[in-house]
Amino acid sequence: MDIANRPLDAQIAFVTGASKGIGAVIAERLASLGATVILCGRTAALLEDIAKKIRGDGGKAEGVVCDVTELGSVEAAAEWVRKNHGHIDILVNNAGVGVFGRPLHELPPESWDAIFNTNLRGVYYCIRSFAPMMIRTGRGHIINISSIASKNAVLNGAAYSASKWGLNGLTYSVAEELRGHNIRVSVICPGSVATEFSPHTGKDSSKMLDPQDVAHAVAMLVTQAPNSFASEIVLRPTQKP
Ligand SMILES: NC(=O)c1ccc[n+]([C@@H]2O[C@H](COP(=O)([O-])OP(=O)(O)OC[C@H]3O[C@@H](n4cnc5c(N)ncnc54)[C@H](OP(=O)(O)O)[C@@H]3O)[C@@H](O)[C@H]2O)c1
Repeated sequence: MDIANRPLDAQIAFVTGASKGIGAVIAERLASLGATVILCGRTAALLEDIAKKIRGDGGKAEGVVCDVTELGSVEAAAEWVRKNHGHIDILVNNAGVGVFGRPLHELPPESWDAIFNTNLRGVYYCIRSFAPMMIRTGRGHIINISSIASKNAVLNGAAYSASKWGLNGLTYSVAEELRGHNIRVSVICPGSVATEFSPHTGKDSSKMLDPQDVAHAVAMLVTQAPNSFASEIVLRPTQKP
């Protein structure tokens, strides 16, 4: 494959929640564009399966077990990347959890904590741990995977919705903080995507977005011209599922 088809050659990407679903497909897409991809998740065997698949397709990938809710775990992963690769070009904050099906007043506090610790605190920990490496090289992309739930009311999904509204606010603010360092911080807000993430009760999975659609948006963001900064992508299925 020539350089035009591998525009991310020599770039290092760290993708959280890359062991399955949207994150795995984003990782595969970035690797197909030439990046060396570090897959982050809590389950070593799943990470290794995806890394092997990418390597089998001629890409470069390694799994690093990392829980984004634990600062020490994220710092150790960032240090591993620094030692082994020296720099980071792309951080995709994709790991996320949701709890649906109950009104907020019936949601257990443990579920609230799991949602916010993963979807918001985890993103803060990753930016805290990886942004300094990007600042040193004077370039980078940070892409946060939010949701259309960040734009809408979500019946029986208030905590998830609030975490994603919060993630958008975090993204817009950090984008301004890091812009002067030539680091583009953007957010993708997909509608329903056919993964194991939620039961998507009552929805037609054949009309949902495919993880490839989200990966396509990520690929677009990381291959923009240097002076172009698409800061937010709202990605809807053509037909309502
Ligand atoms: N599917 C949808 O309809 C949809 C729509 C809009 C937005 N999104 C967003 O897209 C992202 C990915 O969703 P998905 O559908 O691909 O979900 P998924 O299939 O459930 O995958 C979630 C991934 O996150 C990882 N993960 C969860 N907690 C983690 C933690 N504490 N530390 C590190 N990794 C963790 C999981 O691996 P381990 O459990 O092994 O750690 C897994 O790889 C989420 O942020 C979600 O909110 C999804």
